[in-house]
Amino acid sequence: MDTDTPGAGAARSEEDAVESTFGPVGVVGAGAMGAGIAQVAATAGHPVTLVDLVEGAAVAAIEKVGSALTRLVEKGRLSQDDASAALARITPAESLDGLPECGLVIEAVPENLAVKQGIFAELAERQPSTTVLATNTSSIDIDEIADDVADPERVLGLHFFNPPPVMALVEVVQGKRTAKAYVEHVTALMEAWGKTPVRCSSTPGFIVNRVARPFYGEAQRMVEAGIADAATVDWILREKGGFPMGPLELTDFIGQDVNLAVGTSVWEQTDHDERYAPTELQRGLVEAGRLGRKSGSGVYTYAADGAVEGAEPDLELAARLVGGPVETDPLARTLAMLVNEAVDLVARGEASADDVDTAMRLGVRYPRGPIEWGREIGFDVVARQLAELDTAYPGGRYRPSPALTDGSVS
Ligand SMILES: NC(=O)c1ccc[n+]([C@@H]2O[C@H](COP(=O)([O-])OP(=O)(O)OC[C@H]3O[C@@H](n4cnc5c(N)ncnc54)[C@H](O)[C@@H]3O)[C@@H](O)[C@H]2O)c1
Repeated sequence: MDTDTPGAGAARSEEDAVESTFGPVGVVGAGAMGAGIAQVAATAGHPVTLVDLVEGAAVAAIEKVGSALTRLVEKGRLSQDDASAALARITPAESLDGLPECGLVIEAVPENLAVKQGIFAELAERQPSTTVLATNTSSIDIDEIADDVADPERVLGLHFFNPPPVMALVEVVQGKRTAKAYVEHVTALMEAWGKTPVRCSSTPGFIVNRVARPFYGEAQRMVEAGIADAATVDWILREKGGFPMGPLELTDFIGQDVNLAVGTSVWEQTDHDERYAPTELQRGLVEAGRLGRKSGSGVYTYAADGAVEGAEPDLELAARLVGGPVETDPLARTLAMLVNEAVDLVARGEASADDVDTAMRLGVRYPRGPIEWGREIGFDVVARQLAELDTAYPGGRYRPSPALTDGSVS
């Protein structure tokens, strides 16, 4: 498995080196993610087989890849020759029988443990023992997916973000039994594909979906407690914090049901840790069918043209809250919780500080990484803010990570 690692924007000879290392790539599941991943792998020079058990789904997905490549040509980002060559490298298949021997197979079927386990067991039997078997799961433990695989050291997570051709971030997830050599090799391969890989262990939510939890949760709690209305909280996080969207408008954009499902999954996988407990506000929205933009209403109500109806921020209130006590300062309170979550992840050895910051900047477009933010605010200040919150709201949600003050993350 030792070979040179070409950098991003690799020249043809370097692409050939990658191809000879990993050879053909298999992608299982031709939905939103699988099609995009196939496009990325084919553009990087690999022959790709795209498998979907629904008749015609892989062919339809390849047509969509063709349209996406054409748009890139029209925008001048790809030559017509390269686009045609990439498209010609993708072959459809309707079962795992159609997969040739691959260097890497990436599974992107729906988030269902039993289905994924079945696919991995089958892949492990059919593919050579050196084939790396990767899952694009957003939330399932890598070790569980590898349960029925005789040699689980070759199973790992490759968590692409949506849409894969556009989003640079890929979380490379190492299960307890994954061999480090495979993680290193696949990390290098992602770089050769022009991606920005970060590494983490198979911790609930990986990096992005774990560290982002309080961004949503604190905003919901502050609205629930009547500290401020949604529009004012969103305005503060956007205008004073530099986040591209406020947390409440972002959950409307993602879908309240989708966001609640991710949060609930992290909460369940952490033995119902109070830090990740879903809020009544969000549960209520989902029960009422207020799923966000897609259903016409969520935290906000949307007009037919998508405009938000009647949600003006109260700027006088915002001026009073920001810089005041941490319990009622949406920005300070959110940042304290984000820093705490990030520091905790790093201190437990789940990911490096740099990788956490990179993941949050690229995966959810935070203006700064939370560790960098913690350094700026001061980890001791964050610890004091959390202690104040812990007194105001006992129960464990705001307990400061010991790593904020013991010097293990700096
Ligand atoms: N959609 C996102 O934003 C996103 C982002 C990151 C990760 N993910 C993860 O990626 C995976 C796929 O998500 P998606 O949104 O692309 O799903 P999707 O529903 O759009 O596509 C899944 C595809 O898999 C096919 N499929 C189902 N069972 C199969 C089987 N046994 N063999 C072959 N094909 C099968 C389906 O026909 C479908 O075309 C999930 O694990 C999801 O959690 C999704």
